[in-house]
Amino acid sequence: MCGIVGYIGEKNATPIILEGLRKLEYRGYDSAGIAVIEDGKIEIRRDVGKLINLEVLVKERPLSGKIGIGHTRWATHGAPSARNAHPLIGEKGKVVIVHNGIVENYLELKEELESEGAHFNSDTDTETIVYLIERNFVKGVTLEEAVRLSLQRIRGAHGIVVISNQEPDKIIAARIGNAGGVVIGHGDGEMFVASDIPAILEYTRKMSFLESHQMAVVTRNHVEIKTLNGEHVDVKIDNIAWDPVAAVKGKYRHFMQKEIHEQARSLTDTLTGRVDFDNNRIELINLNMDEKKAKAIQKIIITACGTAYNAGMVGKTMIETIAKIPVEVDVASEFRYRDPLVDESTCVIVISQSGETADTLAAMEEAHKKGAIVLSIVNAIGSQAIRAADGYISMQVGPEIGVASTKAFTAPLVDLYMLAIYLADLRGTLTEEERSHYIYDLRVIPDIAGKCLKREDAVEEVAKILKDVHNILYLGRGINMPIAYEGALKLKEISYIHAEAYPAGEMKHGPIALIDKDMPVLAIIPKDQWYDKMLSQVEQVKARGGTLILVATDGDARAKELGDYVLWIPESPWLLTPVFTTIPLQMLAYHIAAIRGLDVDQPRNLAKSVTVE
Ligand code: G6P
Repeated sequence: MCGIVGYIGEKNATPIILEGLRKLEYRGYDSAGIAVIEDGKIEIRRDVGKLINLEVLVKERPLSGKIGIGHTRWATHGAPSARNAHPLIGEKGKVVIVHNGIVENYLELKEELESEGAHFNSDTDTETIVYLIERNFVKGVTLEEAVRLSLQRIRGAHGIVVISNQEPDKIIAARIGNAGGVVIGHGDGEMFVASDIPAILEYTRKMSFLESHQMAVVTRNHVEIKTLNGEHVDVKIDNIAWDPVAAVKGKYRHFMQKEIHEQARSLTDTLTGRVDFDNNRIELINLNMDEKKAKAIQKIIITACGTAYNAGMVGKTMIETIAKIPVEVDVASEFRYRDPLVDESTCVIVISQSGETADTLAAMEEAHKKGAIVLSIVNAIGSQAIRAADGYISMQVGPEIGVASTKAFTAPLVDLYMLAIYLADLRGTLTEEERSHYIYDLRVIPDIAGKCLKREDAVEEVAKILKDVHNILYLGRGINMPIAYEGALKLKEISYIHAEAYPAGEMKHGPIALIDKDMPVLAIIPKDQWYDKMLSQVEQVKARGGTLILVATDGDARAKELGDYVLWIPESPWLLTPVFTTIPLQMLAYHIAAIRGLDVDQPRNLAKSVTVE
C-alpha cells in the first residue's frame, strides 16, 4: 500500500528518499514518484511500475535538493499511471503533496474547485487536497495554516506530507484517522518523515509518531507537533530497537523463504520475556490486565483480517480450552459495520502484523465506543494498533517483508496460547498442575519448528509435482481447521492457484461433488482428538480417486498408506500443532510459486498493509 518518505537536511534528498521508498516496496505499489526543491523550484519525477523505472528516470533527468518527498502509490482513484502518481503539485506550482488515504468527499470538492476555475491534471482524489492547500496558501496564510484549513474540509482518513518552494525550510506532515502512520525520524541537523519505520531506520532510531488529528512542522533542527486545532503537543521520542540487518535477504531467494526459515528464532523471540519456565508463570506486562479486569470478562471477540484472522480462529480453541472463556471470531471488515453485541464485559482482541490495517483499526474504534476492553497482538512497534489499545502483546518477530505473512502468523498463535494461560491464571481457573503442563509444552516449540524447517527438500519435491494444478481443496478439523484456511490462503496469494479450504466435516455437504482425479485434496491429520474423524474423511476422498496430500505425524503408518504424498511433522502437544502443521504448508506454497517463476514477495494486486477500506 502507499508509502511515504520525506527528507530535510544538508544532504542530497534524492538518494535518501529513493532508498527509503525501496525499503517500503514490500508494502506493494504500482507507481512511484519524488519531488525536491531545487534552486527555488519544485522538481518532480514520476513513473508507473516498479521503483527501478523511477530510478532510471532520475538518472536520465537528475534532481538534487536538500528537501524532498517521495511516494509509492497503490491505486485507489485513477489507474496506475505516471500522471496519477504522487507527488502531486498545485495549479501554481507552489505546493506539492504525497498522500495516503481516500478523500471521501472528493467529488464534491472537485466540482467546487472546478466551478472556481480549477483544471485537474490527474484522476486522483489527492489533487483536490493540494489544490485546496495552495488556494489557501496564496491568500497569504502560512503553509502550516493553509494545510490546517484545508484538512478541515476533507473527509476520510489520511496521512499527508507537504512541501512548498515558498517556505523551503520545512516539511508539514499530518495524520487524520487510520490511513497508515506518520513517523518522524530525528537526525542530527536533518529530519526524516515516513509512513513506516523501515523507510528511515537506516538513518535514525529516534522516532516520533503522529496521532490522529495531529500535524508536525519539521525543520532541519526542530520538530513541532500540534493538534489540527493548533494546540501544542509535547514531542515524545521513542527509541526503535529493530535491526535493519534483519531485513536483508541473505542466502535466501526471497524474503518469504527467509522469513519461513526465521521461525525457529522468531518463535523463541516471542516467548522471550514472557515465560518464566522456572516458576511456571506467564507474564504479559504490556497487557495492562489485572485480576479484577480479567474476572470481569464474559466474552472475548477476536477480530482481524487475512492471515491474522486465521490466527484468531486458532486462538478461539486455545482460549476456550485453557481459559474457558467463550470466544467469537469475526472478520474486521464485518465486525466494524455489524453493530456487534459488545459491552464493558467484552474483551476485543485484534491481531495485526502491520498494526495499520484500516478495517482492524476501525474495529478497535467500534469496540472502544461500546465500552469493551481492547487488546492487540501486533508486530510493528509504534503502530496505531498498539497505541490505540488498552494493552498489547508485541509479536517480537522483527520486520516482515514478504507480502504473504509467515512468521507473523505463527508468532500470534503462541501469543494467543500464552494469553489463554495468563487470563486463566488471573481468573483463578487453572490448577498448578495444568499451568505447569501448558507452560512446559512451550519449551518444545523452537525445536519442533526447526525440525519442520529441515524438511524443506521433501516439501519442494511435492511442490514440483503440484506446480501445474489448477485447484486444491484444503481440509482440516478442530484446531487445525484454520490451518486449512491459512494453507489455502498462502497458496492463492503467491501462486495464483485456486485453493479452497473447508472444515473437513463439511465436505459431505458440498465440496465432495468436486472430487475427482483433477482435484487434489490436502488434508491436515496430526495425531489429535480429531484424527479418527479426519481419517474417515480422507478415506472418502481416496474412494473418489482424488490425489491426496497429507500433513501427518511422524510414524503414522495409516497416513503413509493412504497419502499419495505426505508432509511429515514431528509429534507435538495438540494445542500447539497448528504452529507446526502450518510450516510445511507455507513451504509448499512458496516452492510452487517459486517454481512457477512468480514474484513471491510482491504478488500481484496485494499489499502488505492495507490502509484503505
Ligand atoms: C493484507 C495482506 C495479508 C494480511 C492482511 C492483514 O491483506 O496481504 O497478508 O494478512 O493484510 O494485515 P495485518 O497487517 O493487519 O496483519
